[in-house]
Amino acid sequence: MAQSPSIPKYLQEDDIPQECRDLIPSLPREKGWVGTSLHLYQGFWITTSHLKGVLACQSHFRARDTDILLVTTPKSGTTWLKAILFALLNRAKFSDSPKQQHPLLCQNPHDLLPFLEFKLYFQQDAPDVTSLPPPRLFATHLPYQSLPLSVRDSKCKLVYLCRNPKDTFVSLWHFTNKLRPEDKGDNCLQESLDKFCRGVSLCGPYWDHVLGYYRASLEMPEKALFLKFEDMKENPHPHLRRLAEFLECPFSEEEMRHGAAEEILRLCSFDNLSTLEVNKRGKLASGEENRSFFRRGEVGDWVNLLSVEMADRIDQLTEEKLHDSGLTF
Ligand code: A3P
Repeated sequence: MAQSPSIPKYLQEDDIPQECRDLIPSLPREKGWVGTSLHLYQGFWITTSHLKGVLACQSHFRARDTDILLVTTPKSGTTWLKAILFALLNRAKFSDSPKQQHPLLCQNPHDLLPFLEFKLYFQQDAPDVTSLPPPRLFATHLPYQSLPLSVRDSKCKLVYLCRNPKDTFVSLWHFTNKLRPEDKGDNCLQESLDKFCRGVSLCGPYWDHVLGYYRASLEMPEKALFLKFEDMKENPHPHLRRLAEFLECPFSEEEMRHGAAEEILRLCSFDNLSTLEVNKRGKLASGEENRSFFRRGEVGDWVNLLSVEMADRIDQLTEEKLHDSGLTF
């Protein structure tokens, strides 16, 4: 089937390596949200060409103790936390430069902090990440059980960001509609909700993804930090400090006096990032428009789309899946 040029590369189904072609027939298959297929691999749903990046990353990525991995479910605020992590870890480098030189002012956060499976290991020949200076910063949507073994075996740190399932679903629905070929129109909301609730969404089931990392953060608090989008929105300052302490780069008293934390939060705020020229116009190498990562950036936007019954359905499922975990939204 001819692919629409608007579909990101990781959703296109040509150029699939033999290794994936051999594996695909054995995997349960469903129609995806953008018109291409989703396959159930190691208990989670991925697109045909995403599988290529996942296999390559699982085989070839070698984590180091000093690495930092941002993990999210799609549409839970990855772009925001990529910006925050980049700004936090590089704050000494850019604190004295004129503000307009900060890379976040002229590059989309996804170009500054790459995904392992969608970008670095997406190509057949993985780029050389061995020469990057520590701490190396990467992102992934992989569920905990599917992380490359070296990530779990090393002391590399995991920063996990999740978002309440109703807003995550609504954000995903809007985002995937923009990726669909124009002649196909929007996804049917009810059908998309059915899929999401059955776990059939990119890197879903959503609840298994969140629980995997929530449990890891309880068992290994020095390895995995669990953050919620809603907490960050409500009161970002203490969470940014917590993040800095977790990553062993706490703000000094002098930095606190000079408002370094506030400056990072301002730089990475939705209002700032979404109005930058680069994020209003450019495109990622993978094909998505930069602006598609900035929609409303609010908590509770689901009320504008979901009926009471739809919201109740997600709430009930969330209660069932998380009921004895200690995790609530
Ligand atoms: P909405 O669609 O609800 O607006 P991801 O980055 O994981 O793809 O998630 C995208 C969601 O995060 C979108 O949510 C987007 O608007 C929101 N977002 C992007 N940048 C943000 C920021 N700086 N602050 C808060 N939310 C942000």
